[in-house]
Amino acid sequence: MTTVYIEDIAKHTGEPVRLRGWLHNRRSSGKIHFLTLRDGSGFIQCVMSKQAVGDAMFETADHLAQESAIIVTGTARADARAPGGFEVDVASLEVVSEAKDYPITPKEHGVDYLMDRRHLWIRSQRQQAVLRIRHEVINAVRDFFNGKGFILADTPIFTPAACEGTTTLFPVQYFEDTTAYLTQSGQLYNEANAMALGRVYAFGPTFRAEKSKTRRHLTEFWMVEPEMAYATLDDVITLSEELVAYVVGRVLEKRKPELKVLERDTAKLEKVKAPFPRISYDEAVAILHQKGIAFEWGGDFGAPDETALSEEFDRPVCVHRYPSKVKAFYMKPDPDRPEVALGVDVLAPEGYGEIIGGGERISDFDLLVARIKEHGLPQEAFEWYLDLRRFGTVPHGGFGMGIERVVSWICGLEHLRVCPAGWARDHGRRAGRRRHRREHLRLHRQREAGVDRRHPRNGAAQARRQAPDRDRLPGRALP
Ligand code: 4AD
Ligand code: MG
Repeated sequence: MTTVYIEDIAKHTGEPVRLRGWLHNRRSSGKIHFLTLRDGSGFIQCVMSKQAVGDAMFETADHLAQESAIIVTGTARADARAPGGFEVDVASLEVVSEAKDYPITPKEHGVDYLMDRRHLWIRSQRQQAVLRIRHEVINAVRDFFNGKGFILADTPIFTPAACEGTTTLFPVQYFEDTTAYLTQSGQLYNEANAMALGRVYAFGPTFRAEKSKTRRHLTEFWMVEPEMAYATLDDVITLSEELVAYVVGRVLEKRKPELKVLERDTAKLEKVKAPFPRISYDEAVAILHQKGIAFEWGGDFGAPDETALSEEFDRPVCVHRYPSKVKAFYMKPDPDRPEVALGVDVLAPEGYGEIIGGGERISDFDLLVARIKEHGLPQEAFEWYLDLRRFGTVPHGGFGMGIERVVSWICGLEHLRVCPAGWARDHGRRAGRRRHRREHLRLHRQREAGVDRRHPRNGAAQARRQAPDRDRLPGRALP
């Protein structure tokens, strides 16, 4: 008897097979049970007749609750009416473990109810589809950059300074006497990597202490960040549109069944082909005014503005040359018009808004020093970054693409927090963590006072924590 995964069932038509998984749903009609089995690779209907399995086994299945772990043996059969095209005629059933009162039933539940049970919710067909699409997006991103000769050079998660403004930094107690911050973006390190390797990308988790409770902001999300030496704003825009078109194309090619589960209108995704429209910030403001939106030149676009703008186009739109004032300290001013920066945001259609932010970096030493001062940033923390302008500086640029935002758009989700990727959190769901933080603080104070109440007899662990020669945050030497 071959043990198979549901996704491989087509190769075993007419053969006896063994499937291991969980009971997703059950229907009965007199002498037949229809058991929907899921095994992580798919869902399949298993047809169990009393005649084939006998009274006792039939009775067992009759009382089996949703999410019980089961092993089914039977024969695979093609059936055009079945959702996946196949069914299994059950010969026997083994109950591995019984589940009682599974809290997520096929009826409708509110998002908050489901979010509180996310560890179980991910078993649902829709959530699994989102996770599979996320998997495809990430693979596509890697294939795209690897195929173009970019080198993956990941950047640190503990960092000594801000990249994207000090207001959204998450401080972390780094041993006894140092504060580190969770990375907001790997960009600054990426620039160093690009000066070594030419074309690089970093891909990992990033953090923003975002208090804004919007459908687009998470405190923890994944970002892919390419960086290129000898690149201008135009090169950055071209790379971003090629990437987005490639990623969407891959999901359309490989994840049609998942898009179907999500009831995604794929005609809209089919339109996502490069080149994308490119408009300046000035033109974007004019569009907002035409739409009757009161927007003052000089400000950053809020979510409603981005929505209004992206609704105007059937594919992502690249908005470039934002006012320097609303952009980060490292953005290169346009030499022809220094009040605007050579930066770009790519806004996804259907009102999804910004999925990519990037641009050309300041390569001039003096100008960068001036900007660091203007932004009130500590120059010492950026000396290594200034070295990149001291030793062989060249025009360069790159961008960051937020994975959850892309997945959320491709899947057509209504809220970023519904995207199960990486269990990403949003600001609205912090009650449990507040309790956790209070406990953490209490223990920290006790340790400061020289008492370790958690492990009163664990002297070695305590000594290790207090040893003066611990590695410190590699702030100055290696950023
Ligand atoms: O526009 P951002 O802040 O740009 C940077 O961090 C640059 N340093 C990247 C670079 O040039 N290497 O963020 C980039 C992208 C956004 O376009 C968005 O997709 C995502 O990261 N993002 C978020 N996603 C979810 N929740 C948040 N709070 C996000 N903040 C940014
Ligand atoms: Mg941005």
